[in-house]
Amino acid sequence: MDLKQHIRQVPDFPKPGILFYDISTLLAHPQAWQETVRQLVGAIGPEKPDILAGIESRGFLVAAPLALQLGLGFVMIRKQGKLPGATIPYTYDLEYGSDTIEMQEDAVKPGQRVVVLDDLLATGGTMRASVELLRKMGADVRGCACIIELAFLSGREKIDIPVHSLISFE
Ligand code: PRP
Ligand code: MG
Repeated sequence: MDLKQHIRQVPDFPKPGILFYDISTLLAHPQAWQETVRQLVGAIGPEKPDILAGIESRGFLVAAPLALQLGLGFVMIRKQGKLPGATIPYTYDLEYGSDTIEMQEDAVKPGQRVVVLDDLLATGGTMRASVELLRKMGADVRGCACIIELAFLSGREKIDIPVHSLISFE
């Protein structure tokens, strides 16, 4: 099944000149979505991590079914101020300004093997920050996986561990 044809491309969103790669059409198609989860399981391979981490918000949609399929737990990487209790933050630079993500301090134990999931890799800034936050928590980050990679933005060059993507736009 060609998953690429299930990604809707929306011009001029969220700003003029930006082409938005929309997974809504993939999520709405049960066979295509099942195939996506199957392929993500394959991308992770036989050596299962201890835990999966999903990046808010669309990364949650990817991490949750994969965690069920693999029989693993999953933890949330969230934008600042959303998680209750003690959290560990990580601040990273954007083109203009900065952003902070965080996790609950007991979400990952030192040495746990983690794979990070998101829907899409664009510049790689979000994924890299997530890997660094997990490392700050002592996790052994084994790899990253996403559905879509915008290869023309070279995001994977920012990531020093294996990056698996199912669909690449050149
Ligand atoms: C989008 C996408 C990735 C990120 C990729 O999330 O879901 O998380 O941007 O961009 P990057 O590789 O350039 O960092 P967005 O911030 O739009 O939020 P959402 O997932 O909550 O919709
Ligand atoms: Mg996102």
